[in-house]
Amino acid sequence: MKHTDICEILKDPARIGTQAVVCGWVRTSRDSAQVAFLELSDGTSFPRLQVVVDKNKLDLDPECMKLGASVCVKGEVVKAYKGEGQELNASEVVLLGKCPSDYPIQKKRATLDFLRTIPHLRLRTNTFAAVFRVRSVAAQAIHRFFAERRYYYVNAPLITASDCEGAGEMFRVTTRPWNASEPDEASYYKADFFGVKAGLSVSGQLEGEVAATALGKIYTFGPSFRAENSNTTRHLAEFWHIEPEVAFMELPDVIELAEELLKYLIRAVMEECPEELKFFDSFVEKGLIEKLRGVESSEFAVCEYTEAIRLLQAANVPFRYPAEWGCDLQTEHERYLTERVFLKPVFVINYPKEIKSFYMKQNPDGKTVAATDLLVPGIGEIIGGSEREADPEKLMRAMRERNMDMAAYKQYLDLRVFGSVPHGGFGLGFERFLMYVTGMENIRDVVLFPRSAGSIV
Ligand code: 4AD
Ligand code: MG
Repeated sequence: MKHTDICEILKDPARIGTQAVVCGWVRTSRDSAQVAFLELSDGTSFPRLQVVVDKNKLDLDPECMKLGASVCVKGEVVKAYKGEGQELNASEVVLLGKCPSDYPIQKKRATLDFLRTIPHLRLRTNTFAAVFRVRSVAAQAIHRFFAERRYYYVNAPLITASDCEGAGEMFRVTTRPWNASEPDEASYYKADFFGVKAGLSVSGQLEGEVAATALGKIYTFGPSFRAENSNTTRHLAEFWHIEPEVAFMELPDVIELAEELLKYLIRAVMEECPEELKFFDSFVEKGLIEKLRGVESSEFAVCEYTEAIRLLQAANVPFRYPAEWGCDLQTEHERYLTERVFLKPVFVINYPKEIKSFYMKQNPDGKTVAATDLLVPGIGEIIGGSEREADPEKLMRAMRERNMDMAAYKQYLDLRVFGSVPHGGFGLGFERFLMYVTGMENIRDVVLFPRSAGSIV
């Protein structure tokens, strides 16, 4: 169906006096004896197009007035009767699809909890349309950021036999039906599709390292899967993951790249989605734009893990989990550090080796690894990364300490045997970033169909 995007009509006064065809959904309508007004949205812009129907000239089907109905309108673009911009004087209104009155999206703002029960319709609300426009702009900006810096985009496999994070949070991939007579696990998997235990990847990093130790600078941007049973507002079973991996990169370089990426993405969203951000600022998180401007122009803080523990212990706050050297930072700790101590994003660095993954570079102190998590106000951890252990002996020792199956990591170890180089990278959770930039408080509200423990709507 040939038609013009509503955003084109709204932004271009040169169209005044021309004929146009638009298609869209009725978002509101008003009626009087002589004139009817329809506000149409086709998804291309935040503002809607007002369509004016002179009822003396046009016989308007009452179904076209109903909230949610889809229509195609032909008419003349005119200067808006009230205020700035353009509207459309209809010469023809064709009903494309009726929308009965039990349409779950009504004019009154529904709660996010309710909208989560209708993921197939919630994108028709202002909030979700804005979230997904921002999501698309941010995704494009990610590719632009890396392309401008000559990074190669690689696609890591989603089905894998190795658990990158070693946290045992892998979904299993199998084609075998349950067979209780199997003597042990190994023989069960031997007869399975791949002949070994396989699962959905929790991270593209290990394959990213393969690419980085040949191509230099690479990034992956794809889904990761985690069967973590934490039913929180920050965890999904399926999330999108941006993972740069870079040869010759040490911990300070990892930090620099992460800060540069985050600022670049914030700037892109501020420039390309001003209307969406204004909406989020008014209805979702007061002061959002101010916050983003502040982040974009601030220098992120860097704090040693040991110092972070000292700060938490000195805090006059009753944490649910007391902070002690050696413990993993809980969200309450992370948020205290970034929201109450530093008041801006903070990189915590050099964590105890026991609470981090096997692949992280071991520091000379023998106790810590060259890891970093970036914590941001309102969320906590948004990025996790590190320099990687490049020494095969040290890496094998860390693997042995974790009782890992060396044979399964032969290729990974080879990268350290054949021309090993210092290298590093990080993972940015795309949905966590979107929460941060939109102010949405539940990660389920920045993804099309959220998957989490016990829920696959
Ligand atoms: O800290 P994580 O587990 O690090 C890794 O996976 C590394 N292999 C990354 C790397 O160095 N290449 O995860 C990285 C980020 C987290 O900081 C968080 O933003 C996001 O991924 N993330 C999740 N997002 C949503 N739901 C989940 N269940 C997530 N788990 C991690
Ligand atoms: Mg992490």
